[in-house]
Amino acid sequence: MAQDSNYVTVDGEFDSLEDRSFLTMDDYDLSGQNVILRIDINSSINPENGDLLDDTRIKRHSATVKELSDNNARVIVLAHQSRPGKLDFVNLENHGKRMSQIINKEVKFVDDLYGDKAIKEISNLKNGDIILLDNVRFDKEEIELSQFTDNNFKLQKNSGMVKKLSPHASYFINDAFAASHRCQPSLVGFTENMPALAGRVMQRELDFLGKAISSGPTPRIAVLGGSKAADSVAIAENFLEKGVERILTGGVVANIFLIASGVDIGKPSTEFIQKQIPDHNNVIDLAKKLLDKYEERIQLPTDVALNIDGKRNGTNVDNLPKNYSLFDIGIDTLVNYISIIEKAGTIIANGPMGVFEDSEFATGTNEIFSAISKSKGMTVVGGGETAMAFNQMGLANGIKHISTGGGACISFMSGETMPALEAMRRSKNLFSK
Ligand code: 3PG
Repeated sequence: MAQDSNYVTVDGEFDSLEDRSFLTMDDYDLSGQNVILRIDINSSINPENGDLLDDTRIKRHSATVKELSDNNARVIVLAHQSRPGKLDFVNLENHGKRMSQIINKEVKFVDDLYGDKAIKEISNLKNGDIILLDNVRFDKEEIELSQFTDNNFKLQKNSGMVKKLSPHASYFINDAFAASHRCQPSLVGFTENMPALAGRVMQRELDFLGKAISSGPTPRIAVLGGSKAADSVAIAENFLEKGVERILTGGVVANIFLIASGVDIGKPSTEFIQKQIPDHNNVIDLAKKLLDKYEERIQLPTDVALNIDGKRNGTNVDNLPKNYSLFDIGIDTLVNYISIIEKAGTIIANGPMGVFEDSEFATGTNEIFSAISKSKGMTVVGGGETAMAFNQMGLANGIKHISTGGGACISFMSGETMPALEAMRRSKNLFSK
């Protein structure tokens, strides 16, 4: 049963069990226990030879696996790789090998998920042993039973995997933050059968992302850019409601807000939005509503860099020519944004300021990301492309937390209900009484 003590969060503050909406690995003694650990090591893979091209997620989850093994738990790892039909939809053998190298312990790959072979391997586990079962998405039910019906995850609970594996474990640990927007059996099906605990990666993600949005040191600001403008405007709405004091916009996100504020951004950039942003009229409408309600808190570029025959050309937004694309924020905007970043207590960043892949238009993103990485405040970077950009620019080390989540991070930042987090919350209510 849950122990009656304090719980250390990643930054050393103490929260009581009552303050948390989920259980953690600190709440139970897991020594000698069979635990099902769901991780997300979905990675880039070379389809020609199956080699892993990126081991960031494997490294992050290795810490949880090692801690459990060092504490004498018997660890049954579940994970997915890609989706059916894709070239990188492969088994997890190479992932297991890489994890073994990282933690210097055997991570035994078993090419079965819940058949006789898997059950036999589980029965043979000794304290500290680790097995990695096969790609959970090789099981059709993992894909097909993924509706979030608000019916206590009954569908997923009745899947073959959950029914077969549950009798062989005492705890379910969900470390797969990056998949927590999915409602698949391996993520939500076990949580009524046994206590569901957040793993270390999950706990860190929830602590950092949660604090960056609602309770980190003030002033809390967000830098939102990139081309996924529909997501970013939804994120802006949630951030502003939750008390993020200021939003600095760049990229297509800024262009949407500029249109919403009545600026004609010119034909090419307008057409880009019309073609590339699904439902763009509604996105612009939401941007208008946000500007009406929170005008002073949403920062738009005052100048931009136009792409004129491949060259950078700085122009004030009041005076934009109609036939050139907006490819970066301008220098005045850059200086203004940096001064806001330097004073911020918490910064959450998602998306570049412009077309940074082209060196002519990389200045805005380079300078803003560099200022964020130098900040003494709590800095949090959204996963996926933004994380990749910080890595490519050699700025990742200066960031306090880089999310492992792509879609999951967007879902969390937008304030959506995430099935796997909801399942952990309900599990806590069920098991910590
Ligand atoms: C990711 O890479 O974002 C996660 O592993 C989730 O993958 P999915 O989008 O295929 O569910």
